[in-house]
Amino acid sequence: MQYPYSERMSRIRSSVIRELLKITEQPEVISMAGGLPADELFPVEEIKRAADAVLSGDNAPASLQYGPTEGYLPLRQQITLIMNDKGVACSPGEVQISSGSQQALDLLARVFLDRGDVVLVENPTYLGAIQAFELFQPKFVAVATDEEGMLPEALEQAIIINRPKIIYLVPTFQNPTGRTMSLERRKRVAGIIERQQVLVIEDDPYSDLRFEGEDLPLLKSLVPDWVVYLGTFSKTAVPGFRLGWIVADEELIGKLSICKQGADLHTNTLVQHVLSRYLNDADIPGHIKKIRNEYGRRRNAMVEALEREFPSGVTWSRPQGGMFLWVQLPAGLDTESLMSKALLEKIAFVPGHSFFVNGGGQNTMRLNFSNSSPDLIEEGIRRLARLVNIQQGKDSSPRNRMESIIKG
Ligand SMILES: Cc1ncc(COP(=O)(O)O)c(C=O)c1O
Repeated sequence: MQYPYSERMSRIRSSVIRELLKITEQPEVISMAGGLPADELFPVEEIKRAADAVLSGDNAPASLQYGPTEGYLPLRQQITLIMNDKGVACSPGEVQISSGSQQALDLLARVFLDRGDVVLVENPTYLGAIQAFELFQPKFVAVATDEEGMLPEALEQAIIINRPKIIYLVPTFQNPTGRTMSLERRKRVAGIIERQQVLVIEDDPYSDLRFEGEDLPLLKSLVPDWVVYLGTFSKTAVPGFRLGWIVADEELIGKLSICKQGADLHTNTLVQHVLSRYLNDADIPGHIKKIRNEYGRRRNAMVEALEREFPSGVTWSRPQGGMFLWVQLPAGLDTESLMSKALLEKIAFVPGHSFFVNGGGQNTMRLNFSNSSPDLIEEGIRRLARLVNIQQGKDSSPRNRMESIIKG
């Protein structure tokens, strides 16, 4: 069948990650590829109780009925309290519920982007954002970054030269690098945003998953008028509910809401009622603390295994939260070809190349530490190190063994 596809379909690509996930669903594969939370930590009992309470209460029919496009009002009220705790004052009218923050990215792209509009992004950046924006044919401009995020001078220059429609940022425990914008950098970036008056999307799925260091202020709290904030319950509750939110002024919420009507009328009503009840009844801080502690343990297991097993010349980030760690192999090594060998060894990671909008990053990879136990992480890194050593044309001696041979 020759389908009459639209012209835009010729430009969009499938997510490498979602394709990879199909392979890594096989139970024997140790997957450090997906961005999956640890499902053994899902609050199954609490969700069950919340669902029971919703479906046995007087409001049961309403929880199964069509609802307002902006979202279930009590849940939007609860989100204003969450935002207040994060230093952002907002009213329920400034909150739009979305079907995950992924849908928020799509809605924002619909509202703002015409063909050729410039979007400034970190380099590398979140693949799902590239996918959501790409449909609207913008021009991506990648801004140079260091360990603390976008370089202020490079950002301001890029704004002056390109006059972007939007800047897309994941300031905390970024996907894919795990990188966090420092306090000093946040203040400088906030100053630039205010001076240059450019709209910023602050995508923030990971800041609640901090297991080390101090919380940092949201960009939204530093320059509220110029920042649209995206939050999600995917990482702190359950991703399967597909529940996220957007904080913006009422005018923009109105536009987003019109686009959402065309997409899905509203986010699943029952899920909103259940999550609202769950937030009300369960020990949320206790649950998030449990996730943080476990992810901290898993990050440690991964970093220690990398130190033990990987050859010199390989570097990696040491994130203080979130779910990802970024590895850079010596120049000349190619993580896409490494990946095909890794799958034969029943391990998986995401080659870094796909996170760069203008190419590059062939020697980089993203490793997820949230979705495997410390034992599996150790075994996964051991197998991966063996492959890296082979690809590097060396013997399989990891650094510490090499060092002990030299010293001994
Ligand atoms: C930076 C970033 N934004 C958005 C999303 C989408 O999350 P959600 O499940 O809320 O749609 C993810 C998911 O991994 C992400 O890493």
